[in-house]
Amino acid sequence: MKKRLLVVGGTGLVGASLCRSFENAGWQVWGTFCSRPRPGLIHLDLAGLKPSLMEGMDGAYAVVASAITNIEKCFLEPDQSRRVNVDGTIRLLRLMKDRGVFPVFLSTDYVFEGTRGNYREEDERNPTTTYGRQKKEVEDFILKNFEGFLLLRLGKVVGVRANDGTFLTEWANKLIQSKPIQAAEDQVCGWIALDDVAEAIRLLIETEKTGVYHLTQAESCSRWELARRLCRHLKVGPELAVPCRINELGLRERRPLNTSLNGEKFAGQTHCQLMSLDRILKKIATACGEKQGD
Ligand SMILES: NC(=O)c1ccc[n+]([C@@H]2O[C@H](COP(=O)([O-])OP(=O)(O)OC[C@H]3O[C@@H](n4cnc5c(N)ncnc54)[C@H](OP(=O)(O)O)[C@@H]3O)[C@@H](O)[C@H]2O)c1
Repeated sequence: MKKRLLVVGGTGLVGASLCRSFENAGWQVWGTFCSRPRPGLIHLDLAGLKPSLMEGMDGAYAVVASAITNIEKCFLEPDQSRRVNVDGTIRLLRLMKDRGVFPVFLSTDYVFEGTRGNYREEDERNPTTTYGRQKKEVEDFILKNFEGFLLLRLGKVVGVRANDGTFLTEWANKLIQSKPIQAAEDQVCGWIALDDVAEAIRLLIETEKTGVYHLTQAESCSRWELARRLCRHLKVGPELAVPCRINELGLRERRPLNTSLNGEKFAGQTHCQLMSLDRILKKIATACGEKQGD
C-alpha cells in the first residue's frame, strides 16, 4: 500500500511544495486549502474544524503547514490569529491523536528570544512576538501529548525559481533592473531552500525519526549580507543593497535580532547536506538571469 500524507495548508509556499514532492516520490497525498481554492484540494478552515476531516486517515502522516504566518497580522489581530494558530491547530492535533495520525508540525525560529542565535533543539524557548508565542503553545501541546511526532523548526525558507513569489527571487528581479533593495543589517537568520524542506521532511519520515529538529543550512547571516552576496552573484553593484535596521521600519511589533538555528542534529543523524547559501544564491542568479534573457 502507498504511504499516505495529508498536507494541511496545501496552498502555502511550503505546503504546495510538499504536495508536489511527495506525489513525485510515489506517496498518496491529500492537501487542504482555506481561502485559495485549488483543484483537487479539500477545504479546511482551522477556525471551524470538522472532525470528518480525519476519517479514513488512520496510520497516515499529516504535515501541519497551515497558519496565519504574517507576523504583523498575528500581533494586530491576536484573537483571530490565536483561533487559527493555537485553538484550531490544537483541535486538529487532537483529531490526529484520536485517529493515530503521525503529526509533522512546522514551527519557527521565532520561538527563541533572538538574543544570541545558533539555537539548538533543546535550548530554552522564550518568544518575544505574538506569532512566536502562538507557535510555542502548539509545540508545548505536542511535546506533552504525543510520543511519535516530528516538530520541525524551519529557518527562513527561500525559493530558487524565477518569479516563484519568494522574497529573494523578487530581490533578484529588482537588482537585475538596477533597482535598490532595503535589507536589515541587524537581523540574522538561518536559511533553507524550499526544495530542501520537502526533501528533509521526507527523509525524516522515511527513516522513522521522531522528535524536534531544526531545518536550516549551516550558514546564518543578516538580510543585508545576504543581499550583498546576491548582488555579487548577479554581478550588480553592491551599493544597490541598502542597509536598514529591522526595528526602524515602522513595524508595530519589535522583531528579534538573531534567531538563527543550529542544524547539526539533522545533518548528523541523516547525513543529508542541505543546499549551501552560495549554491542557493547561484541558482537564483542563474534562474533570474536566464529569465531576463528570454
Ligand atoms: N516560509 C517560511 O520562511 C517559514 C519559516 C519558518 C516556519 N514556517 C512555518 O511553515 C508553515 C508553512 O509556511 P508557509 O510559508 O508555507 O506559509 P503560507 O505560505 O503563509 O501558507 C499558509 C497556509 O496556511 C493556510 N491557512 C491559513 N489560514 C488557515 C486557516 N484558518 N485554516 C486552514 N488553513 C489556513 C493557507 O491556506 P490558504 O492560502 O488557502 O488560505 C496556506 O495554505 C507555517 O506554519 C509557518 O509558520 C515557515
